[in-house]
Amino acid sequence: MNCRSDFAILTDSPDGTAYLDSAATSLTPDCVLEKVNRYYRYYNANIHRGIHNWAEKATVEYEAVRPIVGDFIQMGTTTVKDCEIVFSSGTTHSINLVANSFCADWDSDDQVIISEAEHHANIVPWQQLRDRSGVKLQVVFLDEKGQIDLGHLEDLLKRGTRRSLVATSILPNATGILQDWQQIGQLSKMYDATVLFDGAQSVPRIQTDVSVCDFLVFSGHKIYGPTGVGVLYARQGLLDDAPPYMSGGDMIKTVNFAETTFNIMPWRYEAGTQNIAGVIGLGRAIQWVQEQGIDNITAHEAMISDYAQEALKSVDRVSVFFPDSSKLGLIVFAVDNAQSSDVATLLNAQQVAVRSGYLCAEPILRNRLGRGVIRASFGCYTTTEEIDRLITALQKSLQTL
Ligand SMILES: Cc1ncc(COP(=O)(O)O)c(C=O)c1O
Repeated sequence: MNCRSDFAILTDSPDGTAYLDSAATSLTPDCVLEKVNRYYRYYNANIHRGIHNWAEKATVEYEAVRPIVGDFIQMGTTTVKDCEIVFSSGTTHSINLVANSFCADWDSDDQVIISEAEHHANIVPWQQLRDRSGVKLQVVFLDEKGQIDLGHLEDLLKRGTRRSLVATSILPNATGILQDWQQIGQLSKMYDATVLFDGAQSVPRIQTDVSVCDFLVFSGHKIYGPTGVGVLYARQGLLDDAPPYMSGGDMIKTVNFAETTFNIMPWRYEAGTQNIAGVIGLGRAIQWVQEQGIDNITAHEAMISDYAQEALKSVDRVSVFFPDSSKLGLIVFAVDNAQSSDVATLLNAQQVAVRSGYLCAEPILRNRLGRGVIRASFGCYTTTEEIDRLITALQKSLQTL
């Protein structure tokens, strides 16, 4: 792909960093910076409230992002409605919202099924729900290829006594292995389960189709947009009557001291002043991704991932996590007899930025490897030269470790 010139941080960066940490946060193209900047420079007002021109303009720009998101996450004949798009502060917020609102009346007759490979954001809110309500929290394991074991998932679904919610990542950040998400969605539907897909890593990398799920969550800062903003797609009707997760201004119809009536979807779940600039920037980021072509991004990241995986496999003392499975967007590996943080520190000294440790996915890494790891992750701007720099820097680091 040829998009590096769209990123001032890549063209102007004085230190020449090879940024291989896009799974944590992707870089932001200039057009998104400009869009955010224009909001603050020209119409920096609150939304849904004022009737002056700046407030009107901010409201129109903010609301215009809902159909942009909807268009981006739909395929075929599905049409996402504006009322199905709730803006949040990110994936974590979106999952907490579902756990607290959709599952507000769940109890020990209900179950939530997550996978072994989840990010903490898709584990801890369900543990909290279990601890306060008695909901059963089940974990489905991965097979030897790093795919969710569909037989195990079906067993768990069969054993459910009342409501089931399957909450899994389409592309786990600790494996980089794209899951058979359509199959997971269809299987779960056969058992009338509700399906929540964590799209934090997948939405920036593959075409999504919300027709196979009920909830889809993702973050702006992983899809070339601003931090502190994200999306909850919620199928129409699922959250209309649930108790709001947060309450306050803008999510109400009327308030008096005796009682409050809540707003309709999606504003019912957007309490207080939203990240207006963030939402507007997210809209521009998604348009930028569409200009690049999501299929081109998928192909580029698959190419870079194959290249990186093969190169890493050839380095002595390096073991790649699930070495025989293809990856998309990130490779996780460990180095024999070396702490992951030491490796990352030595790479950093050579201007190669990677992530190390437990990657906010401690259970799978502790259970399967018993240690922290190093993760190199990519964006549509990542080049094979940057992977070569990683390998050279790694080989040099290993001489001192
Ligand atoms: C798969 C996955 N889920 C959830 C999250 C949490 O995202 P955020 O911190 O933007 O809420 C991440 C972040 O790394 C992730 O990779």
